[in-house]
Amino acid sequence: MAAGKTLNRHLIEEGGWRQDGAGDLLALLEPMALAGKILAREIDQAALAGKLGLAGDANATGDMQKKLDVIGNEIVMDAFAGCSLVAGIASEELDEAVVMSTSEDARYLLCTDPLDGSSNTDVNAPLGTIFGIFRRGRTGELSGGEFLQKGSEQVCAGYVLYGTSTVLVYTVGAGVHGFTLDRGVGEFMLSHHDIRCPEKGSVYSANVGRHKAWKPGVRRYLDHVTEQDKSTGRPHSLRYTGALVADLHRCLLDGGVYFYPGDPGSPNGKLRLLYECAPLACVAEQAGGAASTGRGRLLEVMPEAIHQRTPIAVGSVDNVALYERFMAEE
Ligand code: AHG
Ligand code: MN
Ligand code: MN
Repeated sequence: MAAGKTLNRHLIEEGGWRQDGAGDLLALLEPMALAGKILAREIDQAALAGKLGLAGDANATGDMQKKLDVIGNEIVMDAFAGCSLVAGIASEELDEAVVMSTSEDARYLLCTDPLDGSSNTDVNAPLGTIFGIFRRGRTGELSGGEFLQKGSEQVCAGYVLYGTSTVLVYTVGAGVHGFTLDRGVGEFMLSHHDIRCPEKGSVYSANVGRHKAWKPGVRRYLDHVTEQDKSTGRPHSLRYTGALVADLHRCLLDGGVYFYPGDPGSPNGKLRLLYECAPLACVAEQAGGAASTGRGRLLEVMPEAIHQRTPIAVGSVDNVALYERFMAEE
């Protein structure tokens, strides 16, 4: 039996990041992979180690933190503590960006949602870690404003999905590749080479419990996908896990769309632009899919704040385009 290809070997041989050399890519993704492995272990053992339930505080966007949110944030920060390339981290679980390295080599910025889908922690349902990496425009003292870059400026983005197996998916603009954690060996092994998102799919993921608050365009889109029409493969099927990473992973592999629109109480929806939506939009586009705010390309949105929210529709190009058409009719 062939030994298979580890993430590190793949990055060296075909990482596709010639501009900065494979060295930077390896140095950035190695700590991310390490954090993924440690978090997979912590999630696995959480019920036995008293690590389920609430931590007691709210984070910067008002969500009550789970113990695993706090642990996840510490794991990612610890994993990058020795990485001199990363000047600072913006995280869902940090009020403000923190400085990680003051080295001359600190030419990157990391945005992360350390634990996505944290309502799932106590019910053994899927979770994720999201990451997006930007280049810094300068060296010297870090300012929070440096993180405010369009998603299209990301040089690397991806996620780890803690599901029936643990999978790391990344892109640096040379395809989207997935690696499954072999727990016996302790390595992420190449399992999904060059993921291509189907042009269309018959699955939609959304918290339809909120549909009465949605704008008419989104409600009409929901009516459309739930209509009976054999010739166009409708109704579509609803799949919603409570973890964006898991729902997007399904869309990437099987086709479909995940959407979280705004409503009057929260005009920009729930999801955060910098460390949730932009990295996943980058992965989706690189896999041949699309990501929109409902009004235009999500990767073109210029953030004004680290914890800014945005409405999103992400997944198969045809599905996202149709969603945009319904939004435009309002
Ligand atoms: P997080 O756990 O990082 O706060 O993110 C949860 C996000 C996303 O993963 C999920 O799809 C969505 O919030 C769920 O929101 P609803 O509970 O409104 O469905
Ligand atoms: Mn999240
Ligand atoms: Mn989170």
